[in-house]
Amino acid sequence: MSRKRVAVLISGRGSNMAALIAAAKDKDYPAEIALVLSNKTDAAGLAIAHAAGIAIEVIDHAAFGKDRAAFDAAMQAVLVKYNIDIVCLAGFMRLLTPGFVGQWPLRMLNIHPSLLPAFKGLDTHKRALEAGATVHGASVHFVTAELDAGPIIVQAAVAVRNDDGEAALAARVLGQEHRIYPLALKLVAEGRVQVENGRCLIDGVPVPDAAHLTPVL
Ligand code: GRF
Repeated sequence: MSRKRVAVLISGRGSNMAALIAAAKDKDYPAEIALVLSNKTDAAGLAIAHAAGIAIEVIDHAAFGKDRAAFDAAMQAVLVKYNIDIVCLAGFMRLLTPGFVGQWPLRMLNIHPSLLPAFKGLDTHKRALEAGATVHGASVHFVTAELDAGPIIVQAAVAVRNDDGEAALAARVLGQEHRIYPLALKLVAEGRVQVENGRCLIDGVPVPDAAHLTPVL
């Protein structure tokens, strides 16, 4: 089976992008990172992608002013030019138009630093701490027109410690992000994910019954 061609869209640090690049180095991984696309010229992740020998494109959103549709159309043109099969948003800090998202049904993934559907949007770790959450984590989901709301492909949970600060919690969640994004992309690239009633099934099988206790008792 030929490997799926993946574009990773970034705006900043690019550590999830780096995790995807690392996973795709394995010749048995079902996807290759064919393009890294940034909306910011100074995204730190661009240097990592360049060092890995991956094609880079920058489309500065500021040049499009308030015209989100025109910015999205410019991105779509680049994705088509590179023959992209799957798009991975990885810290891509732009709202996308429904028209653009609609071009990529079940072929656009995002990683979000919370256990969705809790804590959509920004500042998730701070909000989880303030809310007194005992379990927090990360989610990889399909992108739909509604922000952070598409079917969830893989989640990882971490326990929240009594003495946790935002940075410590964020670091533990990020460690899990780097595990689950390559896993979720693998499952999608292998065509093993279906959506039924808004939930993902892997290989057509519902998840087995499982319970996680926090604290472990
Ligand atoms: C990650 O926490 C990701 O979940 C969120 O933005 C952050 C991006 O970090 N969407 P990086 O650029 O992948 O290091």
